[in-house]
Amino acid sequence: MAKQKADDLTMIQDIILNAKEAAQKEIDGNAEPEFTQKISWPVDCKVGPGLEGAIACETEIGYVNGSMGYLIYRGYDIFDLCAYSSFEEVSYLLLFGELPSKEELKEFKESLNEYRHLLDIKRLLMSFPLENMNPMAALRLGINFMRHKQTYRDQAEVVSKAESIATDEDSIAMETPPRGERKSIYEFRKKQYRRPKNVQAGLVGSEGVGSCIRLIAGLPTIVAAIARIRKGHLPIEPDTSLTLAGNFLYMLTGEKPTPLAERIMDICLILHADHGMNASTFAAMVVASTLSDVYSSVEAGVAALNGPLHGGANEQVLLMLNQIGSEANVEPWFAQMMKKKRKIMGFGHRVYKAYDPRARILGPLAKMISATTPELRDFFKIAQTLEKVVNKSFGKDKNIFPNVDYYSGLVYKALNIDHEIFTPIFAVSRVSGWCARVLEYLEKNRIFRPRAIYNGEFNKKYTPINKRK
Ligand code: SDX
Repeated sequence: MAKQKADDLTMIQDIILNAKEAAQKEIDGNAEPEFTQKISWPVDCKVGPGLEGAIACETEIGYVNGSMGYLIYRGYDIFDLCAYSSFEEVSYLLLFGELPSKEELKEFKESLNEYRHLLDIKRLLMSFPLENMNPMAALRLGINFMRHKQTYRDQAEVVSKAESIATDEDSIAMETPPRGERKSIYEFRKKQYRRPKNVQAGLVGSEGVGSCIRLIAGLPTIVAAIARIRKGHLPIEPDTSLTLAGNFLYMLTGEKPTPLAERIMDICLILHADHGMNASTFAAMVVASTLSDVYSSVEAGVAALNGPLHGGANEQVLLMLNQIGSEANVEPWFAQMMKKKRKIMGFGHRVYKAYDPRARILGPLAKMISATTPELRDFFKIAQTLEKVVNKSFGKDKNIFPNVDYYSGLVYKALNIDHEIFTPIFAVSRVSGWCARVLEYLEKNRIFRPRAIYNGEFNKKYTPINKRK
């Protein structure tokens, strides 16, 4: 048993280190000077539609080198972080700027553990028809409840009023008793959680490190609850003996994950945690720049991430592979898509003109984990064939390669997760990047306010409504 665990973990590490080696063979340059040096504002840059090329801010959090295909968080290569680190460690790194010491990581994990428990919020979510809601909209709802609770707590120092949306069974009418199952543990108990020692806790304003930790800890609980409630199951209480990734899988499936599954989820969370000025990070930062709060910023991030051109692509990829159906159908299907001028989900990127390093890890991981069942193996083969066809057709000319969303869905499917939860999983990870970037930006905040070029008409004469055609 112990040997199997060690073998599995070694195999995963080998996959990551092999991917690193392959990437390094193709990387023959340094960081791009135009994106990696101190600047003094205002700065000259060539801006295209969709703010392509625009410099929004300076950062020390992370860097994407699109032409070489490498990604770093706070100076550390993504391959090394995946091979040697954990999502908790990476979240600490993104938020606080340095890798934690043993003691710091222990305290950080304790804080995260405490904030996993969101009984009151799960209870509230159960009173909504989540099965008819987009899971990302439901996630925004959950974050909104977190914000409301936190705002109350700050103002009222956790007195009885603050519990008005809390765990009291009588506070929410339920027409039918919850449908239970034997594995579900759902207790309506009240508990005061100790505040983390080393962080300023509980603020919703500009210094809300405590709120960020609550969000990083809370999103897995909310997403898992949403996934279960949608299927008519009761949410599962977190298990604080498990890692964030392991506990997330446990709360989703009701089963303690194998060390292999836990490690794979951990790597997925590390890989998705931060990625420059992507649309959802920018959305979160725009909201924060108005001096709104971190919960609202994260909600904006979730809203932006949901779209199929962004994080929503991971779910679309799986639906697409399902639609293609067989390896033999890949070429005809692709030809149809090109005729209709459709985008192929999971391919292309605004910044990467080389292979996305995250896909370098997720591809082989998907291959390994898909080998377990014939159905998954077939899905993987379709994905691989499509990658070859896209590459042959325009990959090299247009620099269109698989992005992070291409293989992640296959990994999640192999972990027995429903496709509608793929994009929420992206949010469970990216919340640490959103929070880190928001906190950093607020240190030297200036409200975001670009201009648009007006090319409408001038000097039109107003016609009263009864004289209009
Ligand atoms: C993520 O920004 C980030 O960092 C995002 C992200 C993160 O971690 O935060 O990496 C996560 O969002 C990954 C992307 C997930 N989205 C998809 O997989 C959807 C499919 N991909 C695309 O629609 C597209 O590639 C985007 C949205 C990702 C990027 O869009 P751009 O930069 O605006 O590029 P474009 O649409 O202007 O395309 C440029 C050219 C066009 O050809 P030409 O008109 O110049 O001849 O490339 C072609 C496009 O037609 N093209 C594609 C394509 N992606 C680009 N053609 C077919 N299929 C595609 N997927």
